[in-house]
Amino acid sequence: MKKEDIITLPCPRLRHKSAKVHVVTDETKGLIDDMVSAALDWEDSRPHEISAALAAVQIDRLDRVVIVRSDFDDKEVRDFTTLINPEIVKYEGDILDDYEGCLSVSNVYGKVPRFAKIRIKALDKDGKEVRFKAEGFLARVIQHEIDHTNGIVFIDHIRDLTDAFYTLDEKGELQPLDYDQHIKTNSILWD
Ligand code: NI
Repeated sequence: MKKEDIITLPCPRLRHKSAKVHVVTDETKGLIDDMVSAALDWEDSRPHEISAALAAVQIDRLDRVVIVRSDFDDKEVRDFTTLINPEIVKYEGDILDDYEGCLSVSNVYGKVPRFAKIRIKALDKDGKEVRFKAEGFLARVIQHEIDHTNGIVFIDHIRDLTDAFYTLDEKGELQPLDYDQHIKTNSILWD
């Protein structure tokens, strides 16, 4: 799949809730392959960003399937870990604000509060149950992706819309984005 297969806001289907995967089949594996190829094609078009993760809803498939990059720091490592029906079983630590972006929210970034540590339960790509702890950026990414499976996009966590949004300049640095001028006028996020 290509980056054009990734749906973006204001598409309302991003707000739909995904269904649990009951049996991991060859079709599920095909879906995972499609997600990986779309995520990597998107990344190859972006000089300053990595495709950290993707949820199936982002390629218009309402299955609770998420892929997470195995190494966030090295773009050359192009493999992903699959989480099927991922669930957070425990939240721990502080709630921290940090920048997030999303392949389905074109060129808009914002600060989102997330728990610092979580414990996760999921199925792996072979349908076997896995349980693990995550913290830091990985914990943030998994919370963002589980939100996608529930029809929630990161901007939905932003309460005060003024001074909340950023974009990347050509050097890859975050720059503030004026809400009235850019976001409201161009209907980037909402219809
Ligand atoms: Ni996202």
